[in-house]
Amino acid sequence: MTALAVRRLLIDLDAPIARHWCAGDAFRTALFNALSMSFPVGEQFFIDAVRDGFEALPAALKPRFAEEVRGFVGQEATHRRVHGLFNAHLERQGLRNTWGPRAAERQKLLKGEDLRHRLAVTAAYEHFTAILADWLLHHPEVLGTEDARLATLWLWHSAEESEHKSTAFDLYQALDGNHAWRLKWFRRVTIMFVGDTLRQTVRNLHHDGTLWRWSTWRSAAAHLFGRSGLVIETLDPWRAYRRADFHPRQLDTDLAERWLRENAGQFRIV
Ligand SMILES: [Fe+2]
Ligand SMILES: [Fe+2]
Repeated sequence: MTALAVRRLLIDLDAPIARHWCAGDAFRTALFNALSMSFPVGEQFFIDAVRDGFEALPAALKPRFAEEVRGFVGQEATHRRVHGLFNAHLERQGLRNTWGPRAAERQKLLKGEDLRHRLAVTAAYEHFTAILADWLLHHPEVLGTEDARLATLWLWHSAEESEHKSTAFDLYQALDGNHAWRLKWFRRVTIMFVGDTLRQTVRNLHHDGTLWRWSTWRSAAAHLFGRSGLVIETLDPWRAYRRADFHPRQLDTDLAERWLRENAGQFRIV
C-alpha cells in the first residue's frame, strides 16, 4: 500500500490569471483550462467511488486500505478545491465550462449500478491523469515561466496523481473486478476523455478569439504530435493499461518523488 500525504499548497490563488497564462500560448492555455474545468466534478466522482469501494471491502481487507483511501480522498478533495478557485478565474474571463455539467449528467447513468463500474471508470481516468502527469513532470517547460504559481499548481497536482494512481485500481481488483470490464471501461473512457478534452479546448479557443490563428494550430501540432508531444509520448503507457498483467505501479514515480522533494517549500503537509 502507498503512504499518501495530503499537502496544502502555499500559493496565492486570489491574484487574477492572465488570459494566456501558459507560456503566453493560446493553445496550451486553452488545453490546461479545459482539463481544469473537468476536475471538480470528476474528482468528486473518484472520491465517492473510492470511498464506496472501501466500504464494500470485506472486513479483513479494510486495514490494508484504510490509510491509503484516507490519503486519496484528502488529495483529491484538495485538488478539487484548488481547481475550483482556478476555474472561478476562468469564469470571470467569460469562459464557459460545458464539460463539467455534461460529465455530471453522464455520471447519473451509473447510479444504482454495481459499484465496480464506478471503480473501473475511476481507475481508467486515474490512468489518464497519471500518464498526463508523468508527461508534464518530464516537460515542465511546457508550462512556461509567465506565472510560477500556476506552474507549481500543475506540477503539484501531477506529482500527487502519480502518487495515488493505483488506489482505485487496487480496490477494483480487491473487489474481484474483472479484466474484461476494466478494458471495456477503459475504451469508453478513452473516447469520452479525448472527445471532452477536444470539445472544451476548442470552445475555450473560440471564446478567446484564437481558434483560427495559424499559431494556435502550430502549437497544437507541436505539443500533441511533435517529438516530445503529449499524444506521441503517452501512447505506449496508454496501451500498457490493456495488458492483463498491467498494474499502475509499473509506471515509475521517480519524477513525482523528486518534484515533491525539491519543492517541499511550496506546500505544508496537513
Ligand atoms: Fe486530482
Ligand atoms: Fe487522481
